Amino acid sequence: PHEKGWITPSLHQYQGFWVAPKLLNGILACQDNFQAQKTDIFIITAPKSGTTWLKAILFCLLNRAKYSGSMQQHPLLTQSPHDLVPFLELKLYFGQEIPNLTSLPPPRLFATHVPYQSLPQSVKDSGCKLVYLYRNPKDTFVSLWHFANKLRSKETGGMPLGECLDAFCQGVSPFGPFWDHAQGYHNMSLEMPDRVLFLRYEDMKEGPHGHVKRLADFLGCPFAEEELRDGTVDGIVRMCSFDSLSMLEVNKSGKLSTGQETKSYFRKGEVGDWMNYMSVEMGERIDRVMQEKMHGSGLKL
Ligand code: A3P
Repeated sequence: PHEKGWITPSLHQYQGFWVAPKLLNGILACQDNFQAQKTDIFIITAPKSGTTWLKAILFCLLNRAKYSGSMQQHPLLTQSPHDLVPFLELKLYFGQEIPNLTSLPPPRLFATHVPYQSLPQSVKDSGCKLVYLYRNPKDTFVSLWHFANKLRSKETGGMPLGECLDAFCQGVSPFGPFWDHAQGYHNMSLEMPDRVLFLRYEDMKEGPHGHVKRLADFLGCPFAEEELRDGTVDGIVRMCSFDSLSMLEVNKSGKLSTGQETKSYFRKGEVGDWMNYMSVEMGERIDRVMQEKMHGSGLKL
C-alpha cells in the first residue's frame, strides 16, 4: 500500500499502477466479466484529460440521425455525459452486481480510465475501436489536483499542490503513472491505427470541427455531403462546447447516478491554465520527468 492517495488515503499497486482498494474490485470485475463486441467503442483517458467532452461528442456523433429533427429532445440537454456514456470500472462494474450489457444496441459506447495492460482481454481481442484522449500533463495535473481536493475536502481537507506534484512525478496518480498510461495507448495506436485513435485535447480545442469529422471517419460513420453542408458538424461542436455544456442546469446543479456532483466535471476547460497555479520551476519539473520517461517513445509532449 502507498499512503499518498490523492482521493483515498491509501492505494494499492496492481499491474503497475496505483489504485484505491474500492476501485480495484471494479477493475477485477471488468476483467473477469466484461465481454467486448466488435462493434463496441471505447473512450479512454487518464483522469481529467477531457473525458466529459469526448463522451458528449461521441454520443452526439453516433446518435445524430435519431435527434436531427428534434434537438429539443436531445438527451445531452437533460443528462450528464457521464450518465449517457458510463465508465466500466467506475460505474457499470463498481457495485456488487454484474451488469447484463448484452441487450444494449450496437454500437455500445463505454468509457474507461484503465491502462492498456489492464483492459479486459476481450477488449483487446474483439477488434472494437478505442479512442484515446491525451492532454498535456501540466494541465491534467492541475485539473486533477482541483478535482481531488473537491472530493477530499469534507473529510480529510485539501492536499497542498506541492505534495500532489511529488506524488504525480513519482507516478502515484489514479490509474497509474501518466507517462505509462499515455505511452501504452500511443504504442497501440501506432501498431493498430485502424483500431486505436490517439487524439490530443489541445488539438481538439484548436480545431474541433476537423476532429469531429475525423472521429466520424474513424468510427465508420462519416458525414454525408449533405450533413457537411447543413451545419451538422457545427451543431455537434457547439452543443458539446465547454460553454454550452457547463451552462446546462443538469451540469450546474445535478448529481450523477453515482452520487457525484455534475459541476465538478466543468471547471475552466482551457489550455495552459497550469500557469495560474504552478511556478515555472514546477512546470519544468513535470517536463523533465515526462521527457525522461517518454524518451524514445515517439510520443511528442
Ligand atoms: P479543467 O479542470 O482544466 O477545467 P475529465 O472530463 O476527463 O474529468 O476532465 C475534466 C477537464 O475537462 C476539466 O478541465 C474540465 O473543465 C474540462 N472540460 C469539461 N468539459 C469540457 C468541454 N466541453 N470542452 C473542453 N473542456 C472540457
